[in-house]
Amino acid sequence: MCGIIGAVAKDNIVPVLLEGLLRLEYRGYDSAGLVVANYGLQRLRTIGRVTELDKLIVKHKTNGLSGIAHTRWATHGAPSERNAHPHYSDYSGQDSKIAVVHNGIIENHEVIRKRLQELDFKFISDTDTEVIAHLIAFNLRQALNLFDAVCLSIAELQGAYAVAVMDETKPGYFVVARNGAPLLLGLGTNGNYAASDASALLQVTKNMVYLEEGDVAELDCDSYRIVNCLQGKTTETVQRTVHTSKLSSAAIDLGPYAHFMQKEIFEQPGAVANTLEMVLNVQSISPILFGNNAEKIFLQTRNILILACGTSYHAGLVARYWLETNAGVSCTVEIASEYRYRDPIADPETLVVAISQSGETADTLAALEYAKSLGHRYSLAICNVAESALIRQTDLRFLTRAGPEIGVASTKAFTTQLASLLLLSVTLAKIRHKLSSGHEDKIVAALRHLPTALQLALQIEPQIKIWAKKFASKHHALFLGRGLHYPIAMEGALKLKEISYIHAEAYAAGELKHGPLALVDSDMPVVAIAPNDLLLSKLKSNLQEVHARGGELYVLADADSCIPQSDGVHIIRLVEYAGLLSPIIHTIPLQLLAYHVALQKGTDVDKPRNLAKAVTVE
Ligand code: G6P
Repeated sequence: MCGIIGAVAKDNIVPVLLEGLLRLEYRGYDSAGLVVANYGLQRLRTIGRVTELDKLIVKHKTNGLSGIAHTRWATHGAPSERNAHPHYSDYSGQDSKIAVVHNGIIENHEVIRKRLQELDFKFISDTDTEVIAHLIAFNLRQALNLFDAVCLSIAELQGAYAVAVMDETKPGYFVVARNGAPLLLGLGTNGNYAASDASALLQVTKNMVYLEEGDVAELDCDSYRIVNCLQGKTTETVQRTVHTSKLSSAAIDLGPYAHFMQKEIFEQPGAVANTLEMVLNVQSISPILFGNNAEKIFLQTRNILILACGTSYHAGLVARYWLETNAGVSCTVEIASEYRYRDPIADPETLVVAISQSGETADTLAALEYAKSLGHRYSLAICNVAESALIRQTDLRFLTRAGPEIGVASTKAFTTQLASLLLLSVTLAKIRHKLSSGHEDKIVAALRHLPTALQLALQIEPQIKIWAKKFASKHHALFLGRGLHYPIAMEGALKLKEISYIHAEAYAAGELKHGPLALVDSDMPVVAIAPNDLLLSKLKSNLQEVHARGGELYVLADADSCIPQSDGVHIIRLVEYAGLLSPIIHTIPLQLLAYHVALQKGTDVDKPRNLAKAVTVE
């Protein structure tokens, strides 16, 4: 959470900082701030969105040739101007301030704070960030330069973080450090930059250097230098590869859409086609898609353990059905934040699969580390960000190629994760000789058809809009599904609560009479996912139970599901039963429903209250 950007250039960098913050706002958006060097440090901070900061910039005519900026998702201390970044510390009286912006959490901030308070440092905010500022200032008092003071200070910090630091006495220069939270440098023709994410820097350069754990970098307008302090303080410069970002600015622009979530919902056919491109081109399924060693590792895999959070966890729950049914591999799916604090029994032959859109989610990363420490031998990442921490921590990897997902509510990441996991299940099936070549051809043909099937599913939007009007006045909703559509019901409920703030719960339809049926009345819309699969007759009985109690049913059926429309039973029919692909296709109407209900309610679709896209803290 939180977005950082820093810039030093030959021209005014304030527009760059502002544009960068807007790009990073998906990471957190409860307050924003910046500091620029212009005859001393000029700081502006405000509660609320980056647009509020923009108003302050206009009012104060803020400009400068170097600066650092921040958009915050509060962890330590409520969202307020006082807690907004940058934070200051003074190291030798007047005109010798430093300013710090920070992403992540300093776990040992209380111990350091106590020590610094004893040294007479005054804390103004409730943040852990202020500890960093004072710690660096303390080291500056020992006559170190800023770069060395940052190196020394971060050696004391525990936790996952990225920071950017400016010194009032050194305009045109700033220092950044990374440990556990993403940070990259942008090398431009007009200056040098740093940010949490490449999308913030595309406006000025495509040349990026991804910092590694323990890297500290100093930047001025013409040069940069990196050292790695992972093993303690050092002066030895390290070389990092300069990558040319392949991100196009179209991928991070809204284009003709009203919201990123809308854009990302409609991008799904293309995103899935990109993700499956290699399979569709070669028309056969091969373990190499998951990495060079995949065949060897898959042959040793007896079970699978999936670790993930949020929407990615739901993708894992669907995958369990596929892995068991298609490949005969037993699979458990764990919420990463729960797994990491249990005492699970590890098995070296259980492949750990970590699923994460961002590859940054703190709980997923920690759970993966924990699984490895317990003795799981091999791991696989399913991830959407090639440069993420997760990708570097597993033996095998499969990149979903959804493109940048900016809406906080995950959509295209989910369907591309599902496509990848389906592919994993059939790859394992093939390796275990559970897939005849005829069957393989059929699956490849089905995958080839998936983008078109998604396109067709998107065409039901006008009908969903009619449903959305009815939902907008409700306070609660139930989502029902059976089998591998139960996790899809969970994802539908999550989408609705995330962005429309309607309380929504998902149940396996068979569980209905064990409690939730008590809630059913005319005020409780019940959304049911009703594909024409083997469980349809069972589901129909569950729907009767709801109908008989005056519940209003909203049924997402297949064209061949044979459920008649009647009073209190609203039906939207998708295409005919899509077999293995069915859960992916049934996701689309649920995303559209959440989106249109949120529009009806006038909520902030892309930035729902209290949430952030990349949860880099526990
Ligand atoms: C946050 C996001 C969700 C996402 C979850 C896991 O809660 O708002 O959309 O599903 O984190 O994120 P990951 O990047 O690990 O998939």
